[in-house]
Amino acid sequence: MGELVRFSVAMPEELLMQFDNLVARRGLAKNRSEVIRDLVRTSLVDEEWDDPDAEIVGTLSIVFDHHASDLQGKLDLIQHAHYDKIVSTMHVHLDAHNCLEVIVLRGQSKQVRAIAEAILGVKGVKHGRLTATTTGKYI
Ligand code: NI
Repeated sequence: MGELVRFSVAMPEELLMQFDNLVARRGLAKNRSEVIRDLVRTSLVDEEWDDPDAEIVGTLSIVFDHHASDLQGKLDLIQHAHYDKIVSTMHVHLDAHNCLEVIVLRGQSKQVRAIAEAILGVKGVKHGRLTATTTGKYI
């Protein structure tokens, strides 16, 4: 991060009150400036993700029942087919039946989305979500 530059922002009082509530919810370590920087970064990351060719990083979390017919095998097959885009996979045994996998993907936005859709589309995956993050290149 380069040198900090100050600028003033005008906004309606009601919106500022809501923003200050947001700042308060983020805790003592965050002030208005830091929360504004976080929001700007979030917008930049979202924009980056909208470019199908941009190099991005995503985190896919899925929950599934490992007893479901060959589900783990199907998930492994997809991950092995895209081993060059999958940085890491963490497997957590939630209980006797359910597993959580957190898969970190890196590649072009369109590739990461396609791999995530393929994994989310496997029958037996009960819940899942792809979260966008960034390589940090543009922020
Ligand atoms: Ni498990």
